[in-house]
Amino acid sequence: MIPSFLSLAAFGALGLCQTLVIREDKRAFAVLDPNGPFRNASQTFEPNPTANLTAPYFQVYDERFMDILGPNPTIRVIVENDTFSFAHDGPIWIPETNQLFTTGGRIEGRPVSMMNLNDLTPTGLINFTILPLDDAVQINNGGTPFRGDLLLVTTGSGPLPPSVVRVNSRPPFNTTILLNNFYGRQFNSLNDAKVHPLSRAIFFTDVSYGFENGFRPAPLFPNQVYRFDPDTGDVRVVADGFSQCNGIAFSPDGRTAYIADSGESQGQIGGIQPTLPATIYAFDVMSDTQAFANRRVFAFIDTGVPDGLSLDTNGNVYAGCGDGTEVFDPKGTLLGKIFLGVSSANMIFVGPKRLVLMADTKIFLAEIAAEGMDLDL
Ligand SMILES: *[C@@H]1O[C@H](CO)[C@@H](O)[C@H](O)[C@H]1NC(C)=O
Ligand SMILES: *[C@@H]1O[C@H](CO)[C@@H](O)[C@H](O)[C@H]1NC(C)=O
Ligand SMILES: *[C@@H]1O[C@H](CO)[C@@H](O)[C@H](O)[C@H]1NC(C)=O
Ligand SMILES: *[C@@H]1O[C@H](CO)[C@@H](O)[C@H](O)[C@H]1NC(C)=O
Ligand SMILES: *[C@@H]1O[C@H](CO)[C@@H](O)[C@H](O)[C@H]1NC(C)=O
Repeated sequence: MIPSFLSLAAFGALGLCQTLVIREDKRAFAVLDPNGPFRNASQTFEPNPTANLTAPYFQVYDERFMDILGPNPTIRVIVENDTFSFAHDGPIWIPETNQLFTTGGRIEGRPVSMMNLNDLTPTGLINFTILPLDDAVQINNGGTPFRGDLLLVTTGSGPLPPSVVRVNSRPPFNTTILLNNFYGRQFNSLNDAKVHPLSRAIFFTDVSYGFENGFRPAPLFPNQVYRFDPDTGDVRVVADGFSQCNGIAFSPDGRTAYIADSGESQGQIGGIQPTLPATIYAFDVMSDTQAFANRRVFAFIDTGVPDGLSLDTNGNVYAGCGDGTEVFDPKGTLLGKIFLGVSSANMIFVGPKRLVLMADTKIFLAEIAAEGMDLDL
């Protein structure tokens, strides 16, 4: 099969960076050769394997994705270090300083790295520095901006408790632990967090990956989602019934919550379980209690598991998946992919029309037409 349309859509500065925009027709792969090859959940999907395309590129599954990309989308690597997973998860952007913060892979203790996006040139790479954080901030995973600072959630390490931590976004990067228990019991291993756009309460997910990956004791709770009001100290469960509740996001109006369940991946102990969820669920956020109600399947991910989630100002949902960032409209229709060909745990808008994608040893910058919703209200 030949893609219905193939274009060299854009040329970066100096013509050095050519970005492919590939239009895919969902009808074209509705019926595949019965003799295969078919694939499993861990392999990426390229509708036209003979095209032999080199990632990254944009896969357009719905014409509306062109409005998200705009006429001249580009994508390129802006930070890289092949020896070190400095950009696994937890991307936070601080607009005032134009600095990007990320959390690293588990093996290196998941330090927090900082990059100054003012150093960006049209083609060059920028450097990262590792923040000198307090030892109590153990194994960082998720993060989001919070009242001008960084909000990190940590997985804990051995007997040290998982924590919700506020970190000064400026030197000396001093930290304040906001929460490290639920009425005296340690959480399992915190994964991701967002601030609700209206109440400004902190919502975070707790999973058992710390245990399954061998650095936390057996879990003491179901894997579930919590709401924490840092002004009153009230902490409560707002949603349960997950395998591994992972990424979290709200719609710009605060009325819908999205949770990525990455249960298909059960860590080092459990391996890949294709019959468990690789599913983003949507919920109504109750106006009185902010509990999550009316759970429904929003989208099942076709490659790997959904991890971090972001929304643009039009309510489209961006999910970090096994093949890059997959983008869905507010009703859960796959519009397109920013196809990296490798797993990407998370992504974040860093100002108008700029999306940063995490790929452990690399960070990509996609320049598109969409704009991210404000995360620090
Ligand atoms: C998926 O298929 C690839 C290629 O055959 C294989 O290497 C991989 O182990 C498979 N993954 C799972 C989870 O079965
Ligand atoms: C695919 O592309 C790569 C890099 O452009 C090239 O080295 C390789 O020979 C191509 N493979 C096929 C089957 O055309
Ligand atoms: C990559 O990271 C390692 C560990 O921080 C550091 O020693 C090395 O200098 C870095 N390499 C580059 C090219 O930045
Ligand atoms: C990154 O670090 C290298 C080595 O210290 C330096 O030569 C280069 O100028 C730095 N790049 C930027 C954008 O600061
Ligand atoms: C950092 O220290 C300053 C000065 O003591 C304090 O005002 C601020 O609240 C601290 N920030 C955090 C996140 O601990």
